[in-house]
Amino acid sequence: IDPSLDLVEAIKQLKIEKNAVILAHYYQDSEIQDVADYIGDSLGLSQEAAKTEADVIVFAGVHFMAETAKILSPKKKVLLPDLKAGCSLSDSCPPHLFAKFKEQYPDHLVITYVNCTAELKALSDIVCTSSNAVQIVQSLPLDQNIIFGPDKNLGDYVIKKTGRTDIVLWNGACMVHEIFSQEKINKLREEFPLAKLIAHPECENHILQNADYIGSTSGLLKYTKENPAQTFIVATESGIIYQMQKANPGKTFIPAPPNNACACNDCPHMKLNTLEKLYNCMKYELPEIDLEPEVIERARKPIERMLEISA
Ligand code: 13P
Ligand code: SF4
Repeated sequence: IDPSLDLVEAIKQLKIEKNAVILAHYYQDSEIQDVADYIGDSLGLSQEAAKTEADVIVFAGVHFMAETAKILSPKKKVLLPDLKAGCSLSDSCPPHLFAKFKEQYPDHLVITYVNCTAELKALSDIVCTSSNAVQIVQSLPLDQNIIFGPDKNLGDYVIKKTGRTDIVLWNGACMVHEIFSQEKINKLREEFPLAKLIAHPECENHILQNADYIGSTSGLLKYTKENPAQTFIVATESGIIYQMQKANPGKTFIPAPPNNACACNDCPHMKLNTLEKLYNCMKYELPEIDLEPEVIERARKPIERMLEISA
């Protein structure tokens, strides 16, 4: 790329030329969020992907999100700036092992968190996101046995919220949400006694049980706008803090401290996307998400079921 090129302007130009829409997750770098047409949580992004009239969907997020967009808009070109932008949670549930797991529970309904591969969605009855997991489980008859995967922390949270004992969990987790230190958070709370601890349900139970609010990224953002507190300790990926600060200029947002001093709250997969890669992927229309039509067909039903329940 010519170093004198104004990447932001060039990306805006490409959007017009190609009738493209940029969908960005809250965990993207702030400069990517700033060029996006829509910024949201996983549910909002999939709703947007389903209804867009653009010819090209540029997904500034990770692989499973771009796959979901492709499943919902199979005729559109879906681009991801870096195909290696994966997800540790999705990786923790290989479809062939999950299929064997599922065989042990033939009368169970399979609910999968959207953070999984298209093949895994194709093995599911209903998909969910962190903002509708509880609602989806509550929409099912009380005597319905359920397999929930791949996130055991979100699954455990759903069990606690719904009081249901008939849910079998897959043992997967997100590398970013398992690093927070309760001890260091407690120290922060002593220092800032009026601060609210807000946490994503992918966090472990010991963090969630002390949180003042638990929600998806958009839920957390909304809470910071509606709650009068001036300081928030944020137990999720740090990218969301950019929108929190923009929406609440006078308030203070402290990233929840990790156990290991060398660790940070950045998702290494999300952060693989850069403005340069975004520009190149729009210019050359590569890399593109390509899925077998048969996988698209089977994976679409459980996603559509989710969208119907959360409409
Ligand atoms: P949400 O934005 O749906 O809360 O998901 C968080 C996440 O971990 C995405 O990878
Ligand atoms: Fe996956 Fe966790 Fe990164 Fe989200 S934050 S993309 S769940 S590794």
